[in-house]
Amino acid sequence: MSAAFIPPDYFRRYSAQEIFGEGDRYEVDLGCGDGGFLLELAARHPENKYLGIERLLGRIRKVCSRADRTGLTNVRGLRIESRYFLEWMAQPGSISRLHYLFPDPWPKGKHHKHRLVQPDFMPVLHRALAQDGEFLFRTDHEDYYEWVCECVRDSGLFREVEWTPGDEYPTTDFQRQWEALGRSVFSAQYRRVS
Ligand SMILES: C[S@@+](CC[C@H](N)C(=O)[O-])C[C@H]1O[C@@H](n2cnc3c(N)ncnc32)[C@H](O)[C@@H]1O
Repeated sequence: MSAAFIPPDYFRRYSAQEIFGEGDRYEVDLGCGDGGFLLELAARHPENKYLGIERLLGRIRKVCSRADRTGLTNVRGLRIESRYFLEWMAQPGSISRLHYLFPDPWPKGKHHKHRLVQPDFMPVLHRALAQDGEFLFRTDHEDYYEWVCECVRDSGLFREVEWTPGDEYPTTDFQRQWEALGRSVFSAQYRRVS
């Protein structure tokens, strides 16, 4: 089975069983880029399943061919827009962990409407996550960090928990670039409340 997940129908939801061929829960790397983080995490945890979501074709192709070459059977890559997937294609309650790492921050005020996280995104995220599902967010952009924290807090749908991954959490490709420039990293971890 190739790592590329190409849905036969974009107007219905897909279970973990349909995406991976087995299981009922999986983790998602939203905006996975070239997949450095996703593939490293999947290699370290063969017992879990990982879906990378990316809208750029060249990047998701690279992720899938790297997964196929290295024989990782617990990774799938899907080319799609993040919110569309979570809102319309993910089976409610099926995502155990959602990683949202170094997303585009859309820094200009007039572009804030393009940010993925908005007040009306929070129920979408809540519904896609499993009962005790987690949302892990990392950025180098302080303003977007505060924006996301505020949206999450105001929604009342999640509670903040201690950042648990520690040193075992792989660094992402963009993280390496930002850290090389001496930029700070802001991290937050939230758990769904029912
Ligand atoms: C700044 S890069 C970070 C990539 C990776 N997470 C990392 O830390 O190395 C953001 C990625 O998210 C993708 N992206 C941005 N908006 C997206 C959206 N709405 N849906 C899917 N992918 C998106 C971009 O194409 C890009 O690859």
